[in-house]
This record gives sequence, C-alpha cells and structure tokens, in this order.
Amino acid sequence: MLIALLPGDGIGPEVIREARRVLDAVCGDALSYEEALVGAAAYRAEGHPLPSATLDLAKRADAILFGAVGDPGCDGLARHLRPEQAILGLRKELSLFANLRPAKLFPELADASALRPEVARAIDLVIVRETNGDVYFGEKGMRTTPNGRRQGYDVMSYDEDEVVRIARVGFETARARGGKLCSVDKANVLETSQLWRDVVIEVSADYSDIALSHMYVDNAAMQLVRNPGQFDVIVTGNLFGDILSDQASMCAGSIGMLPSATLDAANKGLYEPIHGSAPDIAGQGKANPLATILSSAMMLRYSLGMAAEADRIEAAVAAALAAGHRTADLGGGTSTGAMGDAVLAAL
Ligand code: NAD
Ligand code: IPM
Ligand code: MN
Repeated sequence: MLIALLPGDGIGPEVIREARRVLDAVCGDALSYEEALVGAAAYRAEGHPLPSATLDLAKRADAILFGAVGDPGCDGLARHLRPEQAILGLRKELSLFANLRPAKLFPELADASALRPEVARAIDLVIVRETNGDVYFGEKGMRTTPNGRRQGYDVMSYDEDEVVRIARVGFETARARGGKLCSVDKANVLETSQLWRDVVIEVSADYSDIALSHMYVDNAAMQLVRNPGQFDVIVTGNLFGDILSDQASMCAGSIGMLPSATLDAANKGLYEPIHGSAPDIAGQGKANPLATILSSAMMLRYSLGMAAEADRIEAAVAAALAAGHRTADLGGGTSTGAMGDAVLAAL
C-alpha cells in the first residue's frame, strides 16, 4: 500500500521523520512511501503550495500522512499562494469532508493539562469537524464600501446535503462509542447554523438509539473547560471545529498530542496532527512528535485495515509516557528524536 508523505513546513518534517521510523518498525515492507513538497516548501521550489504532482500523488496513494504547513515569511502572499491553501486544497479536491479529532487524556499526562487533574481525567471525546464547506470556502474578498472604507468579507454557508453527510458521520461515530452526540452551532444568531440544527434533527430520525443534544458554540467552549467529561462526540462546522479542537487539545495535555483523520465517503483519508508548523520552535528538536505518531496509527486503523498495528503504536506511545518521557510542551526536556526513540524502544 502506498503512503503519500507530505512533511511540509516548520516542525512538519521533524515530526513526520519520527512517525516514519515508527511505521517502518511496525509495518516494514507492507507500506511503501512517496514523498512530495507541500506548503511554503512547495511554493519556494515550484511557485505553488500544492503542485499538481503533489495533488496527483495524494489522489493515487492509499492514504496521506501530512505534517504541517505555514511560514510567517509567506503571510504577505496572495491568498491562493499561501501555504495553508495546500491543506485546504487537499481537503476539497479529495472530498475529505469528515475530520475526526479525538481528544483523550493519557492518564500519565493529568498534570500536563491546563485543567485540574480531576477535571482533565474525564476527557475522552471526538470532535467531528466538517472540512469541505462553511466560511472557509465561501465567496471572500476585499472591497470598498460606498463611503470609501476598506471592507473584508467571507460568506458563511452550508447546504443541506453537506450537513446531512457530516451529521451521519457524527451519529455513526457516536454509535461506535458512547451513544451521545452534541451538535455545536450558533443557531441563535446565524442562519447557516439554523439550517445546520434543523437538518441534524431531521437526520436524527434514523438514529433513535443516539442521545442528541445541541449547544451554542460559546457555551461549548466554556463547557469544554468546565467539564469536558460530559462530551462523547461533538459534531460541528469547519470554523467552530477548528477552534474547539485546539482548545480540547490543551484540556488533554498539549496541542502536540492530538492526532486527526480527515476522511472521504469511502474512508480514504489524510492523517495529520491538529497543530501547525510551530515556527517558534522549528529546527530546535523541541517538537512533540506524538500527535503525528498517533495520526499514523489512525491511518492504519481507518484507511489501511491494520488495527492490530495501530493498537501497538498507541500502546507504545502510552508506554513512552509512562516511562517518563516528556517533550517541552509537556513540561519536560525530551527532544523530538529522543521521544521517537522512546516509542521505538517501547515497541
Ligand atoms: P501552531 O499549532 O503551529 O503553534 C501554536 C503553539 O503550539 C506554538 O507555540 C507552538 O510552538 C506550539 N506547538 C504546536 N505544535 C507543537 C508540537 N508538536 N510540539 C510542541 N509544541 C507545539 O499554530 P500557530 O502558531 O497559530 O500557526 C503557525 C503556522 O502553522 C501558521 O502558518 C498556521 O497557518 C499554520 N497552521 C497549519 C496547520 C496545518 O498544517 N494543518 C494547522 C494549524 C496552523
Ligand atoms: C487546522 C488548521 C487549518 C484549518 C489551517 C492551517 C488552514 O488550523 O487544520 O486545524 O484552519 O483548518
Ligand atoms: Mn487549526
């Protein structure tokens, strides 16, 4: 099976290197790899953040393992040339609409969470985030108002088919877990959210075994910190899911710990840590590679039918943490490579 390896920018190549070592140890020759440029690295080499060769590889591969994109030196480029367009383009071009972001606290990390240990210990949830629509992909631009002032605008919208398909992923995810689904929206203000809520309720007719609730996103942000243990599965739109997943990561210890899978309707997927390119620590050997290593485990489980191998990787991560290894984001001094070594040793 062919893996498209897209390391990207900043700490992306550093964390992908460790994930690759772990995959080699666990899967050996069962997987083959082709690497391609993406993000600022691709823009600098080829003038575009998502070159056609990279997109072709992503389409051809059985799964995609992605590091991170983003470079402060590119923030002044025209929007379509910025590194972030690579990940947005991959999600859209490959119809990767269902972004699963599990947040679970490894018990050894209770002290690393920003929450009190007894509150943090309860966190075990999945955010199901839609990634093909919303304000991310609506009409946007800069214009001038009639009185000559500059105005930026981004249109937020969802059509009912988009909501139906992500709602189904939310219900199915809840069915495979604790049977509870919380749909997060802003229906008290936004028409986009009113449609979202109406459609989620319509879809719930097919899932009478699932306990459905609704929550406004501002309250959800508060509840995630107050009592994250109340959530099983959260289904939400692209923008709200982006924000809530970074927040959930800190409840579960660190942004360096959270993996993700972004799936199409046939479970082909792109796998990536939820964090970015972390320019502030890039090149210093400080990055936590565990989110990417855990993303590779999700890849084995969801797209490649290798659940036993995924279990082995997750157990090795737990063992490395139990042995006391901590990167800086977890309050320790373990380097990126030494954390990879610790996972390999546990294997
Ligand atoms: P970020 O996630 O890159 O970093 C936020 C903070 O968390 C930084 O202090 C960073 O050092 C820390 N951090 C992140 N990952 C870490 C890890 N694995 N180990 C230890 N510490 C880690 O977010 P940002 O600073 O807002 O964005 C930086 C760039 O990354 C921007 O260009 C942004 O657009 C991009 N970005 C890309 C992705 C992606 O590729 N999917 C996701 C988020 C942000
Ligand atoms: C993420 C990132 C991306 C997003 C950016 C880099 C486009 O923040 O994957 O969480 O907003 O989806
Ligand atoms: Mn994000």
